[in-house]
Amino acid sequence: DLKKYILAIESSCDDTSAAVLCNAKVLSNVVATQEIHKQYGGVVPELASRAHQQNIVPVVHQALAKANIDKKQLSAIAFTRGPGLMGSLLVGTSFAKSLALGLDIPLIEVNHMEAHILAHFITDENGTSPSFPFLGMTISGGHTQIVKVSDHFTMEVLGETLDDAVGEAFDKSAKLMGLPYPGGPLVDKYAKLGNPYAYDFPKPKVDGLNFSFSGLKTSILYFLQRETQKNPNFVAENINDICASVQHTILEILMEKLNIAVEQTGIKEVAIGGGVAANSGIRARLKEAEDTLGWKTYIPKFEYCTDNAAMIGIVGYLKFEKGQFTDQRVAAKARYAI
Ligand code: KG4
Ligand code: ZN
Repeated sequence: DLKKYILAIESSCDDTSAAVLCNAKVLSNVVATQEIHKQYGGVVPELASRAHQQNIVPVVHQALAKANIDKKQLSAIAFTRGPGLMGSLLVGTSFAKSLALGLDIPLIEVNHMEAHILAHFITDENGTSPSFPFLGMTISGGHTQIVKVSDHFTMEVLGETLDDAVGEAFDKSAKLMGLPYPGGPLVDKYAKLGNPYAYDFPKPKVDGLNFSFSGLKTSILYFLQRETQKNPNFVAENINDICASVQHTILEILMEKLNIAVEQTGIKEVAIGGGVAANSGIRARLKEAEDTLGWKTYIPKFEYCTDNAAMIGIVGYLKFEKGQFTDQRVAAKARYAI
């Protein structure tokens, strides 16, 4: 049988996810999001691993049921080995190892950052995949990275954040404005109604293709403190303009680096992923770059942008085809470069 059925497990941060793929096609992709972190305004690692422990079995059962696949039909188990929170990774890693051992089928380790990029190769009804070589940019609450992708397994990190991830920049700015966590989607929503040039925030000076977002957060903090001293209702009265200006600054930083990457490499195939790829502003800027600069840009379906097991499954399938299996002695790896 040429059909490979891969069960994939993702547990690197605060989403417990399981997916079943038949070759490059997703049959199911179940995600249990952990609501517990909302009240803390950010992910609490200890609580995340406990929630994974509770969620993993029901999530895997649901993924198999939705795919209408019996576990005896599975060809292999793919799992996220890293990077991520150690306690969270341990849950998925141990579960995947045990199940593979019990079913006597191969185990396949997956790097979470490679998976964000290879999510573009999931076969969907109308999706088109980038052609090699292409630039991948992963932008989320945990990551900000530009990668040159020469083929499925030849990737080179060209630049990444030196401090906060871009999603954190959105969320922390939103928090300073009193918006609930995660504030990124709300900043996007209000930004649509505001003037992106209303306020000026400094852009960081970072060499090459690396990013820095912690300075922006600090300058927004001082700006808001100064303005609310003069007018206690400043934020409420100007929320649209503040959001539009903050978002504009963040997008300028992202697009400036992408532009440099395109110029340096001569590659105009640009593939974006991660939760921040949902942002309407970045989507508009990419569209503009297609029209004015001749780029070809790609964004996967949103459920394959945020943390999900389907993207782990596509890497699992590609590795299966190459016979790249993993020994049972494998251990989770919190820091794990591409
Ligand atoms: O990929 P993701 O679900 O989780 C990880 O961080 O791995 O990304 C979540 C991040 C959050 O920071 C959230 O605020 C941000 O993506 N985000 C957005 C938007 N939708 C989600 N940021 C800006 N605009 C959006 N529309
Ligand atoms: Zn991620």
